[in-house]
Amino acid sequence: MKRVDDFRLKFGKKELVPLIIGGMGVDISTAALALEAARLGGVGHISDAMVNEVSDRRFDTSFVKDKTRLYKYNINNSDKTDIHFDLGHLAEATRLHVGNTMQAKRGDGEIWVNCMEKLTMNAPRETLRVRLASALDAGIDGITLSAGLHLGSFGLIEDHPRFRDARLGIIVSSVRALQIFLRKNAKLKRLPDYVVVEGPLAGGHLGFGMDWAQYDLATIIAEIAQYLKTEQLDIPLIAAGGIFTGSDAVSFLENGVAGVQVATRFTVADECGLPAKDKQEYFKASEEDIIVNTISPTGYPMRMLKNTPAIGSGIRPNCESYGYLLDGNGNCAYITAYNREVEAHPNDKVISVMDKTCLCTHMRNYNCWTCGHYTYRLKDTTRRLPDGSYQGLSAAHIFHDYQYSVDNKIALPE
Ligand SMILES: Cc1cc2nc3c(=O)[nH]c(=O)nc-3n(C[C@H](O)[C@H](O)[C@H](O)COP(=O)(O)O)c2cc1C
Repeated sequence: MKRVDDFRLKFGKKELVPLIIGGMGVDISTAALALEAARLGGVGHISDAMVNEVSDRRFDTSFVKDKTRLYKYNINNSDKTDIHFDLGHLAEATRLHVGNTMQAKRGDGEIWVNCMEKLTMNAPRETLRVRLASALDAGIDGITLSAGLHLGSFGLIEDHPRFRDARLGIIVSSVRALQIFLRKNAKLKRLPDYVVVEGPLAGGHLGFGMDWAQYDLATIIAEIAQYLKTEQLDIPLIAAGGIFTGSDAVSFLENGVAGVQVATRFTVADECGLPAKDKQEYFKASEEDIIVNTISPTGYPMRMLKNTPAIGSGIRPNCESYGYLLDGNGNCAYITAYNREVEAHPNDKVISVMDKTCLCTHMRNYNCWTCGHYTYRLKDTTRRLPDGSYQGLSAAHIFHDYQYSVDNKIALPE
């Protein structure tokens, strides 16, 4: 009977434990979590989502406060066209977050940064270019492009000195998305080093419509593998979404994927950025508590706990401080939904917005409890303490459980 540890994720001469902890913004996949994965010989992701905020927390910078001060005059204005990110600040925040993480890295593994295209930041191309280039400048091992088709992203950094030697990968949820990406980038003569194939059971945003339940990860992987074979392209595939045990991972590895990307099991790790009380909500969840809805202004369905405080919250849009989802013309679907409710209830002090959420503010405050489909199984991965709460787990414990377990077993903590 095989274990994950019987396989290796290979990039040339480099061999890694084929276990990748996926990016979880905003700072849910912390540097501490990514560093553990790298120390243990696998791959950990940090995320560059709301990196100015993350830098303020980690390094005592004041990027958010400075932006708020600059745009204070606009707070009660529904027009957000003028709100822009200072590209110098964005570069500095990225370099601090990535650079300090890379300096702390120990062990044979790698650290990659998750970079979501949907964070359009009211200047999609310019801000994405700065995010990608600054992460490369700061020595990141790899960049995983996510939440978007990223048709122009390689082109934004083609002149960067590290463009051909840093690892660059993309997350797709269909063979079609990969085909379009490869076709659009053919002229650059630079293939992705890995492709993460994310199925419908993942956490965060889904690359599917609300008909997500009709899709299945193994089928999508088979289609993509067949396409790559036909095109004679040798790109390692990484399976993601719903891989809960070492045995789940082995079944994908035996079918030819080069690695697996997991996240949900690590949401309750001590090193994960979620506050301890929120981790208890993840542990407690039952299957009926996990829903997929369309409240994210990105337009992608998102999976989350039903009792997440973000649902129905009608807070004022906070673009003067954040504004990560402004589309380049000062628009965000939450602003539209919020303004509609304010107009419909002019005398109400507190309003509720059901169809969209202010994702920036709620992710920043850990109030949008996004999670994977199998979150309801987390309670089976630990012990119940005398006070009724669930015992936290170290990232190393979870990592080793994936790496060495057989027979679908899950090792409980000491
Ligand atoms: C709490 C949480 C937050 C996530 N945030 C992101 C994100 O910011 N960007 C992204 O590309 N994927 C995100 N994901 C997806 C994961 O990186 C990963 O690919 C997926 O969840 C793996 O499936 P699993 O959770 O069933 O193991 C998130 C997942 C979770 C559970």
